[in-house]
Amino acid sequence: MASLLLINGPNLGLLGQREPNLYGANTLSEIETQLTDLAKERKHELKCFQSDAEHELVKRIHDVTNEEVELILFNPAAFTHTSIVLRDALLAVKVPFIEIHLSNVAAREDFRKHSYFSDIAVGTISGFGVTSYELALIAAEKFLE
Ligand code: DQA
Repeated sequence: MASLLLINGPNLGLLGQREPNLYGANTLSEIETQLTDLAKERKHELKCFQSDAEHELVKRIHDVTNEEVELILFNPAAFTHTSIVLRDALLAVKVPFIEIHLSNVAAREDFRKHSYFSDIAVGTISGFGVTSYELALIAAEKFLE
């Protein structure tokens, strides 16, 4: 049994209608439900959080120090490529995290090829749509075993 936290960054609340060719047809709430069900099946606890605001994401990361969260599943969205602030927050709380992307960021624009998270993440899963989240959950389970 693991306690996991899923954090999604900016614009991911628009999934379903946002560039479906890149990000798929599922809404964020469908993805969260799907992942919560998978977590339950595998006897894990999953909390979900999304924000478009960097400071709210920082606060949610800080808050894990008062909780049982063992690992964070994190899609930083566009903050992947810009946010030293979120990188520092993750380093500060020292909770391991897996970086997730729906699209294959390495195969897109050059500015998406740099991540402020990949070198400090347990690992990165990118390019499998909703399956990226499912693979990350399985990877979290194995990592925490
Ligand atoms: C994303 C990739 C980012 O480059 C982009 O800014 C996003 C979504 C993904 O899941 O593929 O918002 O993180």
